[in-house]
Amino acid sequence: MATESKNSSFAKARDAKQDEFYTQLTDIEKELKHYKKHFKGKVVYCNCDDPRVSGFFHYFSYNFEKLGLKKLITTCYKNSSRDLFSENDAEEAVMLVYEGDKDGNNVPGVDEIGVVKLKGDGDFRSDESIELLKQADIVVTNPPFSLFREYINQLVSHDKKFLIVGNQNAITYKDVFPYIQENKIWLGYNNGDMSFKVPSHYESRATRFWIDETGQKWRSLGNACWFTNLDISKRHEDLVLYKTYNEKDYPEYVNYDAIEVGTTKDIPCDYNGKMGVPITFLDKYNPDQFEILGSSRNLSNPMSGYAEKGSYAQGGPRFYLNNGDGTYRRMYDRIVIRRRQ
Ligand SMILES: C[S@@+](CC[C@H](N)C(=O)[O-])C[C@H]1O[C@@H](n2cnc3c(N)ncnc32)[C@H](O)[C@@H]1O
Repeated sequence: MATESKNSSFAKARDAKQDEFYTQLTDIEKELKHYKKHFKGKVVYCNCDDPRVSGFFHYFSYNFEKLGLKKLITTCYKNSSRDLFSENDAEEAVMLVYEGDKDGNNVPGVDEIGVVKLKGDGDFRSDESIELLKQADIVVTNPPFSLFREYINQLVSHDKKFLIVGNQNAITYKDVFPYIQENKIWLGYNNGDMSFKVPSHYESRATRFWIDETGQKWRSLGNACWFTNLDISKRHEDLVLYKTYNEKDYPEYVNYDAIEVGTTKDIPCDYNGKMGVPITFLDKYNPDQFEILGSSRNLSNPMSGYAEKGSYAQGGPRFYLNNGDGTYRRMYDRIVIRRRQ
């Protein structure tokens, strides 16, 4: 009984992290088709991937010749047995190295893939994984969401090119947003809805959860994003705008000197001042068309300097609009942009 409750609290903690979301091969193909030119002659590292179940390993090994890759390295975390489905309860981790097809059938065969037992547990922060990271040109994976900050900081500090899956909420993290503002990281092509296989021990839920006819559990995210620093043509395309500015439709915030633009497509084409836009704007962001000045989290002034306590809902730093009846409306997170002249 004691062991059972210990196990179930371990399972709860593990589930609370929500780290075991498996990316579908179709989603990987849909995104990666825009990046082909980046991979020629490159060493790709998937560092949060059990190669035996990872769609990323599958994609790169089967497209090795087409992409002209030099080497594919994949490491998994605390897991050396396929049927564990990455429950991370084996201390051993393995590394797979693939250097291309040797027998001419263009299929990565078992005897063409080098399997090496890692000394440690395959944690992406371990010395062993960092040594592999140093050898890599491009890192591609869906990392554990609970460690996203550390994960992305490690990639940037090692000056690596990358394409990784994350959640839109990460955009506003205080150690991720500056990278976006400084144009060191941007969003890829397919941001929004994405479905992931999850392990059988994951709790059933009312929303964004289902079990398919084979018994496989699934979850979906409505705000999944691809984060990258690989140049893509999308980010050089101008957003075409149709609306014109007027004071009524674009009110100024109470606690910051910018106008509110509730939807990206409604950005006025003739306004040159500061504008607050939803985070989803980043999906359409072209740094030659707009500059990012900051976000409501770092630019908004405290409401206590503008309004009576009780007239507005308090919370973290946000922009507010005046309702005109002595109360103030708290906005969702906003990014502040300005048109480049
Ligand atoms: C969101 S899942 C994605 C798995 C796989 N990359 C994919 O896209 O299908 C993140 C994976 O990272 C693994 N993981 C968790 N902590 C890790 C760590 N510290 N180092 C490396 N991998 C880790 C988890 O076990 C999990 O399998």
